[in-house]
Amino acid sequence: MRNKYAVIIICIVALVIIEKENNIISRVSDKLTLRRTPQTEPPVPYNASSALVVMDDNSSYPEDMYAENGIQAGRKHILLMATTRTGSSFVGEFFNQQGGNMFYLFEPLWHVERMLSIGSSGTNASTSVWVYRDVLQHLFLCNFSMLERFISPPPQDHVTPALFRRESSKALCEEQVCSPVVKDVFERYHCKTRRCGPLNLTLASEVCLGKQHRVIKTVRVRQLDTLRSLVEDPRLDIKLIQLVRDPRAILASRMVAFAKNTPMPLMLLSSCLSSVTVEGSVH
Ligand SMILES: *[C@@H]1O[C@H](CO)[C@@H](O)[C@H](O)[C@H]1NC(C)=O
Ligand SMILES: *[C@@H]1O[C@H](CO)[C@@H](O)[C@H](O)[C@H]1NC(C)=O
Ligand SMILES: *[C@@H]1O[C@H](CO)[C@@H](O)[C@H](O)[C@H]1NC(C)=O
Ligand SMILES: *[C@@H]1O[C@H](CO)[C@@H](O)[C@H](O)[C@H]1NC(C)=O
Ligand SMILES: *[C@@H]1O[C@H](CO)[C@@H](O)[C@H](O)[C@H]1NC(C)=O
Repeated sequence: MRNKYAVIIICIVALVIIEKENNIISRVSDKLTLRRTPQTEPPVPYNASSALVVMDDNSSYPEDMYAENGIQAGRKHILLMATTRTGSSFVGEFFNQQGGNMFYLFEPLWHVERMLSIGSSGTNASTSVWVYRDVLQHLFLCNFSMLERFISPPPQDHVTPALFRRESSKALCEEQVCSPVVKDVFERYHCKTRRCGPLNLTLASEVCLGKQHRVIKTVRVRQLDTLRSLVEDPRLDIKLIQLVRDPRAILASRMVAFAKNTPMPLMLLSSCLSSVTVEGSVH
């Protein structure tokens, strides 16, 4: 009988110790990651007007700009649009997991939004929607040059260790784009399946061109009408998927995910606004 109690008590003590240790371990690793992520680097202020040079609304495309003229048979370009916490990452995975003939990008516009909000002088929301559109257009054509201008620190020779959520894109961690590991370069978004060096965007573009379908997931496009020229581009066969989710579930999810940084009334407001925007753009 005594033995039984002893065993139970030991188990409880062990559990308590494990719990404590876990706390310590996670605190230590939090500190380490904080130390490893240099936060002092001020991204280069960005002048949005200069990006707009390539964004003539009625631009005619130079013939030699892209090798592919017209749409290759059966090729699909899919834009997966959503607001945060509507399950877009989950749905995006359906495409990502297709493997062989799929080029999937997870939220490339993150770079654009970040850069535009920092260099905010002379930028406003009505400018950024056009920048988003043009970056998307280039990416659907496997051209990373425009996105490169928004990556901070700027890629050296088209090579960057800082592409947002690279590991969420199977295609960006394939053998062909997996350059040799470079020592002492910290890669926040490193491949999980194999060890790779910084991403060579020239190689990424080649891999992209070799894929049958291209899918981009984004939570940053709010107005469907800004995508008109994308949909009308003869080089693209665009399909749009807009995810809509019950706002109550979105709010519940945001309360868990962003509770620390956002006061409750603001969160409520933004949930309401995002559902209104979705409704507004569908009509
Ligand atoms: C941004 O670029 C435009 C055109 O290149 C220029 O006219 C404008 O003065 C620049 N603005 C700033 C704040 O540098
Ligand atoms: C836009 O393109 C169309 C067709 O190519 C042309 O008729 C029209 O004049 C252009 N508009 C502007 C403002 O350049
Ligand atoms: C990529 O886009 C840029 C900017 O529009 C353009 O100058 C360049 O020629 C394009 N690259 C390719 C390979 O098409
Ligand atoms: C935003 O930018 C557009 C075009 O650059 C301009 O017409 C508009 O007045 C700006 N709006 C504000 C509030 O600054
Ligand atoms: C990136 O890949 C391209 C294409 O293979 C290659 O020509 C270029 O040298 C690579 N860049 C670097 C910095 O290794």
